[in-house]
Amino acid sequence: MTTTGTRPDIEGTKAEVQRIGFIFAMRAEGEGLVKRLGLKAQGRLDPDLPAVWFSGRVEGGSGGRNLEIAIAFAGEDPYHGCDRIGTLPATLAAYLLCRRFRPDLLVNAGTCGGFQREGASIGAVYVGGGDFLFHDRRIPLPKFDAFGIGRIPAIVDEAMRMALGAESGVISTGDSFEPTAEEQKFFERERVTCKEMEAASIASLSRDLGIRFLAVKAVTDLVDHPEPEKSAFARNLNRVSEILEERLIKLLEWMKVRE
Ligand code: ADE
Repeated sequence: MTTTGTRPDIEGTKAEVQRIGFIFAMRAEGEGLVKRLGLKAQGRLDPDLPAVWFSGRVEGGSGGRNLEIAIAFAGEDPYHGCDRIGTLPATLAAYLLCRRFRPDLLVNAGTCGGFQREGASIGAVYVGGGDFLFHDRRIPLPKFDAFGIGRIPAIVDEAMRMALGAESGVISTGDSFEPTAEEQKFFERERVTCKEMEAASIASLSRDLGIRFLAVKAVTDLVDHPEPEKSAFARNLNRVSEILEERLIKLLEWMKVRE
């Protein structure tokens, strides 16, 4: 279990958050939430790109707060017939969503590879804590080396983390699914709990745009385990996406309640 990066001093942001934008890389990770919330398809975020979005309202009920919700997906690659996973499509979709929807809080939700040595197990849910890192931007030049690694501070609202029932853990982002030996050393040195393919780039965008950011990642596979990541990922994707959906619903239920 890691509890890195929690900042009690910024607790209490709930009252300032009414518009929540979610960005998912894969359709399978977020389509359950779209259906569950009854969001309406809004089409493409840009006519020339495959990224799509959905929006609607979550009613607060008597005494509660209404929430405006938008969910964006990076979209399907028309050349290869698969979801456009990875940093570039996710950042583009997140940028377009922020400009169109103007969220008070941007949430990158999805799945990740976890590390058993940091306490992760299949189905566990984490919020990004400590710093967001990039593990595949190796640039051995002064200043560019640090730029490559990123170290974008995660600002964790403790109450939100608890509403999600999630632990806090260091998330590292890269554009490859399978890690190199050098990246494996990086994960160990930096005590990475979650390895995935989008969060740090969206954290960087959110910092530039001055928008609160939260990464919520559910573990589909264990990187430091003999079973290949890709086999466990394929087997667990749907089940773990359902777990993620339940936790995001819990977050929204909590957000609705006035304090
Ligand atoms: N998403 C889910 N599992 C992953 C892994 N092992 N690496 C990168 N992204 C992932």
